[in-house]
Amino acid sequence: MDKFNYIKTERLLIRTLDMNDKDDFLKYRSLPEVYKYQTWRPKSINEIKNFICKNVAVNLNTANTWLQLAICLDDGQLIGDLGILFLDDNFQVKIGITISPAYQGNGYAIEAAKAVISYLFNDLKKHRVTASVDPDNNRSINLLENLGLRKEAHFIKNFRMNDKWYDDCIYAVLEDEWQWLSFLFCCGLDNFNYNKEYGVA
Ligand SMILES: CC(C)(COP(=O)(O)OP(=O)(O)OC[C@H]1O[C@@H](n2cnc3c(N)ncnc32)[C@H](O)[C@@H]1OP(=O)(O)O)[C@@H](O)C(=O)NCCC(=O)NCCS
Repeated sequence: MDKFNYIKTERLLIRTLDMNDKDDFLKYRSLPEVYKYQTWRPKSINEIKNFICKNVAVNLNTANTWLQLAICLDDGQLIGDLGILFLDDNFQVKIGITISPAYQGNGYAIEAAKAVISYLFNDLKKHRVTASVDPDNNRSINLLENLGLRKEAHFIKNFRMNDKWYDDCIYAVLEDEWQWLSFLFCCGLDNFNYNKEYGVA
């Protein structure tokens, strides 16, 4: 069974989230502004330890399983995480990304997401990458649209969290679209917004 190795980008190292990350991971993941739009709200270091313990055992491409990657600066500082859910058809994945508020607004989320999406298509030969987001989560929507993902659905109150119903928007990109987007990124055409260009509401 394969394990995730690592990805190096211009400013970041992306590797499997492990036990050395537990304190920093708990620190930013338990901030209200971070968990506001997320289903998981860790409350204790033990909860974090259990989560990481399971995470380090995860093999790549295990159906219906999340693999949580650590996003680190060059000096090793953990600044965020990116989860990949491998779907059971073997060809599709869902991703979710979080950056610690202390490091937001520096382009780290887009840099990490671009690298991981390229890895999913080029190395793992996936066909479609999706993300699910609360329509009020503007920063996350900006990120997904800057990455060139297309809004494909807006479900009304289909998602239950803490005894309340929430809307859920689905964004997606296909492998051949990503190759084209990557070419545009290489040409310096960053932040291509499929939804604005093609008038998707
Ligand atoms: C969504 C989230 C990951 C975005 O993180 P971020 O650090 O703000 O993202 P980035 O820095 O990559 O992009 C933010 C802005 O910085 C800009 N930016 C600043 N410096 C940049 C650089 N050097 N390179 C590229 N973009 C840069 C981006 O263009 C972007 O601007 P825009 O939003 O006006 O389009 C973050 O807000 C978060 O963790 N939220 C809480 C968790 C959450 O809800 N996650 C989503 C679950 S699905």
